[in-house]
Amino acid sequence: MTLHFDEAAARRVETSYLTSDVVEQRRQVLAALAVQAGESVLDIGSGPGLLAVEMAVAVGPAGRVVGTDISDSMLSLAAARSIPAGAAPVSFHHAGVDHLPFPDVGFDVAVSTQVLEYVEDIPAALTEMRRVVRPGGRVLILDTDWDSIVWHSSNAARMKRVLAVWDEHLVDPHLPRTLAGSLSRAGFLVDRAWTLPLFNTGYAEDTYSGGLIPTIAAFVTGRGGLSAVEVEAWAADLRTLGPAYFFSLNRYLFLARTPG
Ligand SMILES: C[S@@+](CC[C@H](N)C(=O)[O-])C[C@H]1O[C@@H](n2cnc3c(N)ncnc32)[C@H](O)[C@@H]1O
Repeated sequence: MTLHFDEAAARRVETSYLTSDVVEQRRQVLAALAVQAGESVLDIGSGPGLLAVEMAVAVGPAGRVVGTDISDSMLSLAAARSIPAGAAPVSFHHAGVDHLPFPDVGFDVAVSTQVLEYVEDIPAALTEMRRVVRPGGRVLILDTDWDSIVWHSSNAARMKRVLAVWDEHLVDPHLPRTLAGSLSRAGFLVDRAWTLPLFNTGYAEDTYSGGLIPTIAAFVTGRGGLSAVEVEAWAADLRTLGPAYFFSLNRYLFLARTPG
């Protein structure tokens, strides 16, 4: 079973998405999309709504931002975000990427960050995304390939076991390597693909990986033979590595457009 975004998990994700690592990720997403005043933007799997609100500021009062998600806990966090004055109206809806409750060609831009790796039917999801974006509109997809992780531990064998179980939190922990092909087959034109490393040296709680530790611990405990004691030892080791702490993981970003 993949990661379930209940209230506790949603709050942990929100905390780690407020770190400077993920603030920088959103800055790159916004810069690549180059959203214009007045544009209509769809954020699929909008989670805690941080990117949606930033896009609402970017498109301004003549624009529109719509977020969708399948987690009620995430939708509650998103709905509670304050919208700065002068931003576009933002609404959040309960909907899966495979069934978007919007008419054809209604959006200039669609974005989906860290979502498609949770999805079973990628061709159906991309077909649905293409349907709701106007001809010539832009789509940005960001996902992680968990083979790109380098995470130092005093116990390499235990780290390997934890990460093997953690791979089960996604439908496809290696989605990025097939995304360019899937986008092309769905009729998108891929303009740009690049990586964004998340890199933390020296342990700090308020980093992406510092915030990830409790999320992984909650997911892997009791799976794959990992006991609570073993997982606590894994987490405690990382938190006490001090300057020897080393974490690196790649996000992969794809900027595409619909023909027309
Ligand atoms: C890791 S969070 C990312 C949230 C947000 N996109 C961000 O980057 O801040 C993944 C989100 O995708 C949502 N999600 C998972 N499967 C989905 C689906 N089939 N359709 C829509 N949202 C989905 C989850 O509920 C969760 O909120």
